Amino acid sequence: MAATTNPFKPTAGRTPPLLIGRESVIEDFEEGLENGPGAPGRLMRVTGARGVGKTVLLTEFGRIAKARKWEVIDETASAGFTQRLLDRLTASSSTFSATIKPTITIPGLSASLGEARISPNIMPLTLREAIGARLDVLEKKKAGLLITIDEAQAAERDDIVAIATAVQHLIREDRNIAFVFAGLPSIASKWLNDEVLTFLRRAQPEQLGDIPLYAVRDALEDTFTQSGFTFEDKALSMAVDATEGYPFMIQLVGYHIWRLVNRHRDRSTSASEQDARDGISDALSRLGDTVHGPELDGLSAVDKTYLLAMAQDDGPSSTGAIAERMGKTINYANTYRTRLIEAQVIKDLGYGLVDFAIPYLREYLREHAAFIRLSTESQR
Ligand SMILES: Nc1ncnc2c1ncn2[C@@H]1O[C@H](COP(=O)(O)OP(=O)(O)OP(=O)(O)O)[C@@H](O)[C@H]1O
Ligand SMILES: [Mg+2]
Repeated sequence: MAATTNPFKPTAGRTPPLLIGRESVIEDFEEGLENGPGAPGRLMRVTGARGVGKTVLLTEFGRIAKARKWEVIDETASAGFTQRLLDRLTASSSTFSATIKPTITIPGLSASLGEARISPNIMPLTLREAIGARLDVLEKKKAGLLITIDEAQAAERDDIVAIATAVQHLIREDRNIAFVFAGLPSIASKWLNDEVLTFLRRAQPEQLGDIPLYAVRDALEDTFTQSGFTFEDKALSMAVDATEGYPFMIQLVGYHIWRLVNRHRDRSTSASEQDARDGISDALSRLGDTVHGPELDGLSAVDKTYLLAMAQDDGPSSTGAIAERMGKTINYANTYRTRLIEAQVIKDLGYGLVDFAIPYLREYLREHAAFIRLSTESQR
């Protein structure tokens, strides 16, 4: 009997039916927990383009830590996240106020710490004390604390300084803590060159990339099998190729083909070539709405002009030709090239060549060129 709930999860942050191709980074993390304080896997930075699976990986880390009875605190690095972190720590720890109050003297702070707004200059110490107090309790039970920070590229400097300082001290004191922060590749230029934050630079780097196609094939097939569905050979190859190994696209393609098969499951439980074609086409339009559109919205007008110039080529573009199409000097164009590489929208192939780093962005740009050009003009 075929299932009726679609197992694929083409939604940001939703754990997929199978977490494909992340065995080695998960092993690094598990080893970190295993090997105790000071192990490299306990301080990690995860980077990768949109939709590559950073949030899902953090969730998996959390699951692993919880299975070892660790406490897990997940935060997103929007403004004021250290305050939220502090609030959560104090809410979960009744021993906290007693431990911490004598060690800090803050004029005018009479409310309980959980409600007080802590000023940036004492936040590092306050946070360190709060996490330390929580660890006192956890370590008695042979447990530890995992803190994950998602969207780290969006953090404010005060917050990052506070958390980095606090964690640095706790690691130095051999406390049972693990700290993982994840974000777009731009966190490298944004945070890692900051002198106060050299500590973060020492975090074990894990760059998430595309999933090898053979693993995608196995995962698609397995997930279908579990629903009582199968793939015709050619249909499976089409589906696998269409994903280009991009995790978000794997979910989209799986989801949309599954949906079509589920509709005709009384007739046939096998995905035909036609199902694959239609499913891929549905997946692509969703990819445009959910990835390409928002990605482009976050870029400047000149960034987009650069991309439009690239989209005129069917394959890699020469940076000289792009500058010419933009009517600018190579130096000028290179500023934008660097930014777009950092944002992992394009990739450097060497020899003066660049190519798109996001699947199907070229096609999207071509299809929407007129609209994008109009909107960049109004942006200037
Ligand atoms: N290893 C994986 N195998 C299969 N699917 C995955 C994998 N990682 C992520 N996905 C799927 O890809 C999509 C995007 O995942 P996620 O939201 O974690 O990406 P992200 O890197 O956090 O993106 P963003 O930068 O936009 O926050 C989700 O639908 C998720 O189910
Ligand atoms: Mg995410």
